[in-house]
This record gives sequence, structure tokens and C-alpha cells, in this order.
Amino acid sequence: MRDIVAEKIETLERGEVPIYEPGLAELLERNRPRLSYTLDVGEAIRDAQFLYICVGTPPTASGDADLSAVWTVVDELPRDFDGERPIVVMKSTVPVGTGTAVRAALDARGFERVGYVSNPEFTAEGTAIDDFMHPDRTVIGSFRPDDGDAVERLHEGIDGPIVRMDVASAEMVKLASNAFLVTRISFINEIANVCEVTGADVLRVAEAVGLDHRLGPHFLRAGIGFGGSCFPKDSLALKQLAANSGYHFQLLSAVIEVNELQKRRVVNKLKKHLGSLRGKRVALLGLAFKPNTDDMREAPSIVLAARLAAEGAVVSGWDPIADGRAALTGVHIAGSALEALDGADAAVVVTEWPELREVDWAEAGARMENRLMVDGRNTLDPEELRAHGFEYEGIGRGGE
Ligand code: UGA
Repeated sequence: MRDIVAEKIETLERGEVPIYEPGLAELLERNRPRLSYTLDVGEAIRDAQFLYICVGTPPTASGDADLSAVWTVVDELPRDFDGERPIVVMKSTVPVGTGTAVRAALDARGFERVGYVSNPEFTAEGTAIDDFMHPDRTVIGSFRPDDGDAVERLHEGIDGPIVRMDVASAEMVKLASNAFLVTRISFINEIANVCEVTGADVLRVAEAVGLDHRLGPHFLRAGIGFGGSCFPKDSLALKQLAANSGYHFQLLSAVIEVNELQKRRVVNKLKKHLGSLRGKRVALLGLAFKPNTDDMREAPSIVLAARLAAEGAVVSGWDPIADGRAALTGVHIAGSALEALDGADAAVVVTEWPELREVDWAEAGARMENRLMVDGRNTLDPEELRAHGFEYEGIGRGGE
């Protein structure tokens, strides 16, 4: 494994994992004799049959995917490949057409004997190992069938269907899957918003809607919007890819806009109860973009903290794993949920960490200046909170 950040390589060599991902440290430890880490690309590709590209493709200022890391890797491939037909396997999420462009670049450098396969990643943070071992599907897109065959053979022992196709379609499967998932989230969030004004409860609604086998129960959790390093950037990248190709992807534009508004709705919920937020103390519970990760990228907590600060609120925050200090300037980061709630006028559940269900809400309430809970993930029991004297607001719980 090769990376350009020396610190990451040193951490991995020590047997530590630079990110929080349940089970990963144990998995790396079990396979330690078979793993090596280096900064040197020549060393990494020596004898390699498969060259996986797993770099970030963050959004540029225009919202397109930034492929500079992909191109650096491709450009750095040294001339002296061993082995008969090494295959470059693209794991990174890239715009449709990237494979064709990389193929052309490889050919231009005289690397015709190097294969190219698109094999998009569908694992989610926090469940990455299980998702990898038991995938819903493995997608393999290739220009030449024998390159696809080689990558398919590599997946023997991993249960789940393998779907073969051309490179462009494989690239699109990834973007379309994420776009579909975010559409479901924004859809249920809008249903939740309508539930609030009509007196329905989105939890009951989503449960029953999800029982329709054509719709299914997943990704119907209403909340304060999706975040993370994938959904926001991939939905924007697909929108821009379409626009650059002359197509206005109206539905996806709405999905993205709904998500932006959803994060901000919390501010209005707080104002409904507290009036002006100037000088009010608000505690954000959970800062990572979702539970079981320390990832703060595009976390709704960042937008929320900034909006609250703009309203003049004094913001504290707590997360069991994520270190919010860099992303949340001006927010007091507390060592525990109770500490974050000390003297608070309101609490907001931003991330549904299971730890929050274990909080002693009687004690929390006693420490707060005012007992207001905005449960942005519908994760707490409204009855329990109300029993402890809280005013409780969920998302889409008009019937509560
Ligand atoms: C997502 C996809 O689920 C993976 O399949 C994909 O491989 C990955 O992106 C990627 O493109 O690399 P991830 O970002 O790790 O994985 O996390 P998710 O569990 O999908 O959650 C993303 C966001 O959606 C979170 O902020 C979560 O709170 C939110 N969400 C999810 C909802 O608001 N409601 C839901 O019902 C589900």
C-alpha cells in the first residue's frame, strides 16, 4: 500500500489505523505479515498484478470532482512494470468518462499492456468491513473481457453477485446509486416537513411506506440532512457532470437544495421556543456526519454551528469519537454530553450516537438552564424526555 503522507505510512507500520473504523485495526493486525506500506510508488507496484487507485476526488470550486490525485497516480506510474499484464483498478468515485481518459493516457505513454478496470466502492463508513465482505453487488467495468475476468477472479470468496459491464456504465452505477440514496433521504425529509405541518408522524409513515416491497425500508430516516465525504460531493459531481454534458438534472438539484434547507430548519425550531438566539447557549450532541465514524467531512454540525453563531448563540458540542475542534471554530468542545449541556438553553441531537440513549436525562435537565430538546435524528424517546420536564421536538413528528 502506498500513500504520499509519511505520517499515515508510519502510523500503519506501527500497526495503528489513522481513521476510526470498527474492526479495521484487528483486520490489519491479523493480516500484518501480508501487508506492507510505502511512500515509494516503484516499490508498491513491484510484482503487483493489480494497481488499485483509491484516492480522494473532492469537489472543486465548480462542484466538479477534482481528479488531480487520480492523474498524479496515473502520471507517476513508472515504466518498469513487472508481470505480464498489470491492471489499474479504479476504486475512487470518478465522473463518467474518466476511464476512457485514463485509458487514452496510458496508451499515449506506451502502456498498452497495462489493463484498466472500473470497480466502484460501495462500502459505507462504520460498516466498511462487513459491506466489503458481503456486498449487495460487485460492479466490474472493463474495456477488455480478460481484464474484467482477472478482477472477477480476485473476488472469489466474497459472497454477492458480480455485475459485469463497460467502464462508463460502471462509473455511472456508483454515481446513480448515491444519487438515488440521497433522493430517498431528501424525499423522506420533505415528507417529514409536511408531517410537521399536517399532524402526521414520519416514523409511522416511513415504517409503513417501507413495508412496500417495491420501496423497501432503507434510507427512510428523516433527520437534519445527509453529510459525509461521499453523498454531498457525489450528488454535486453528478449534477455538474450532467450540466457539463448539456443536461439540467432538475431532480438532483432539488435533492441537494432540500438537504441544505434541512440542516437550517433546526435554527427555526430553536427560535420557535427561545425567540432570539442571541446569547442563548445551545449544545450540539454528536458532531460526526453519522455515528461510528470520526469523519467530520460535510457534517451537518458544521453548517448548524455556523448558523447558530451567526444568530449570536453560544455553542458547545460533544462527540464520543470525532474531534470537532478543527471544523467547528468558536464551539466549546466538551468532554461529555453532560458537560456540553451545562447551563444550556437547548440541546440538539445532530448525530444519533447510541451513547445518547444512555444519558441520564434527569441529571442533564437539572444541569440545563432550560429543558428544550431538538432531536435532529429522532433517536430519543419523547415520552422519557417529557417525563423529565423537557419540551421535545423531533423531525416530522407532527403526531407526537
Ligand atoms: C455512502 C453510501 O451509503 C455508500 O454505499 C457509499 O459507498 C459511500 O457513501 C461512498 O460513496 O463512498 P457513507 O457516506 O459512509 O456511505 O454513509 P451513509 O451511511 O450512507 O450516510 C450518509 C449520510 O446520510 C449521513 O449523514 C446519514 O446521517 C444520512 N442518512 C442516511 C440519513 O439522513 N437518513 C437515512 O435514512 C440514511
